[in-house]
Amino acid sequence: MPHIHKVALVTGGTGGIGTAICQHLYVQGITVAAAYYGGGKHEKAQTWKAKQSELGYEFTTVYADVKDDQSCNSMVSDVLKKHGKIDILVNNAGITQDAQLKNMSTEQWLTVLRTNLDSVFNVTRAVINDMVQRNYGRIINISSINAQKGQFGQVNYSAAKAGIHGFTMALAQEVARKGITVNTISPGYIATDMVMAIPEEIREKIIAQIPVGRLGKPEEIARMVTYLAASESGFITGANFALNGGQHMH
Ligand code: CAA
Ligand code: NAP
Repeated sequence: MPHIHKVALVTGGTGGIGTAICQHLYVQGITVAAAYYGGGKHEKAQTWKAKQSELGYEFTTVYADVKDDQSCNSMVSDVLKKHGKIDILVNNAGITQDAQLKNMSTEQWLTVLRTNLDSVFNVTRAVINDMVQRNYGRIINISSINAQKGQFGQVNYSAAKAGIHGFTMALAQEVARKGITVNTISPGYIATDMVMAIPEEIREKIIAQIPVGRLGKPEEIARMVTYLAASESGFITGANFALNGGQHMH
């Protein structure tokens, strides 16, 4: 079979897990557009791109606020203009704003829902027609262990991340006949800034609950993304993969 060159768009591409995903896809010979936000600032993404280039990885960077559908539409148009198509979409952008429900503001609820769940709708809707027209696509949504098990202080995050897999299963059925697969990856606690922001004492207690005895590595999530992104993975769709060091088995 002839090798067909593939193009990927990774949201949160310059973050902890996102960087590993971009690198692993690049190593497979895939053209990667890494999407960033930076609160509307561009310098951090430029520095990231230059550093990746020094390391031997060449990426395109594209801007979007994933909370905003117009911003997502422009980002997808940019990628289509630059690279002609999008074969692989990794919806990876996400944030936490932890607080017990009794202390959680409407703003904390809405910001987390918009960034973590509306984002999946905004970006995927902008990409889907191109995939349907070309009869090919791989969509990979990054959820969380806390979607399935819940987490003290995360009603917003757990609800948004649980919503992602509902989206995955519904869309998987809509596009299965169009050569498009849609899957969820639910990482456990991975050593990135997001987890390092948890107060140390609480983080130590969480690590003690992980049977393998350590945090996961971004590369361990990226390996699964690459597997699902492959053209050979066409029979896997609507599935949810738990990568959590045994912390939650279900
Ligand atoms: N289960 C039961 N009780 C708990 C608890 C838990 N997991 N965590 C805290 N409590 C208890 C405390 O022991 C304390 O009890 P006392 O009042 O009797 O001493 C009480 O609840 C209040 O605890 P805090 O002082 O921590 O409460 P707070 O309101 O100041 O802070 C919080 C709440 C911000 C949620 C804080 O507990 C916290 O940061 N928790 C970590 C949440 C977490 O795991 N976030 C994951 C972020 S990374 C991520 O999300 C990535 C991913 O997908 C895996
Ligand atoms: P991270 O390093 O903080 O990366 C988060 C990424 O999301 C950043 O690249 C950030 O972009 C992007 N982002 C945030 N708000 C955005 C917005 N409004 N628009 C566009 N992009 C936005 O965290 P991470 O650990 O790599 O997390 C990546 C994904 O994995 C998240 O969805 C997270 O929920 C999920 N996850 C993480 C863990 C974990 O333990 N680390 C576990 C399970 C699931 P900028 O920096 O450019 O703003």
